[in-house]
Amino acid sequence: PIDYPISLDFDAENGTFEPCPQVTPRHLSDLKEMFSDQSTVAQILRENDPLIYEIRYYPFTTTKSDMALAVTRIFPGTIGNEFYMTKGHKHQREDQPEVYYCVRGEGFLLLDTLEGEFRAIPWRAGVITHIPPMWAHRVVNTGNDLLVFIGVFHLSAGHDYDIVARKGFAYRVLSRNGKPELIKQD
Ligand code: 6PG
Ligand code: NI
Repeated sequence: PIDYPISLDFDAENGTFEPCPQVTPRHLSDLKEMFSDQSTVAQILRENDPLIYEIRYYPFTTTKSDMALAVTRIFPGTIGNEFYMTKGHKHQREDQPEVYYCVRGEGFLLLDTLEGEFRAIPWRAGVITHIPPMWAHRVVNTGNDLLVFIGVFHLSAGHDYDIVARKGFAYRVLSRNGKPELIKQD
């Protein structure tokens, strides 16, 4: 069998593309344990459940290969003084890297082996970062505007969220007088 090329129509301002078979919203309740200020989390959740980010997903499956593309749009905001961010995960498979491309906004890409190595990559539109296998990844939106990035990875990579929930990233990105600060966790 022959596999045919697929093209998507991507709107880089909006961070949306067509056709899009799957949109996954992540509300505060989906990542509530990731934020440091748990009393503010509980207080907000008593009133509403804000949308923190959205993932648009497209699987490129052929007869001989599998890749996936995901576009994430993180809204601007804070929970207490911690900026909106992704849940963060390590890939389940130990041989699976990923390429991230920031197309809009500003913030940090946090990379952590959860075994002593940590990097905070300052992120803005135009930065492409390779995430090596075995590094947990999380994106933080420190701007007043939408942050949009594209991720390309192998469909079989898998997501390990538990290890991040258990160990946590080495640093958090907190807002002090509106400016981002990296704060070491103990
Ligand atoms: C992946 C990508 C990426 C990521 C989203 C949301 O491996 O699928 O890294 O698509 O899943 O940006 O981040 P969380 O998966 O951490 O919620
Ligand atoms: Ni990933």
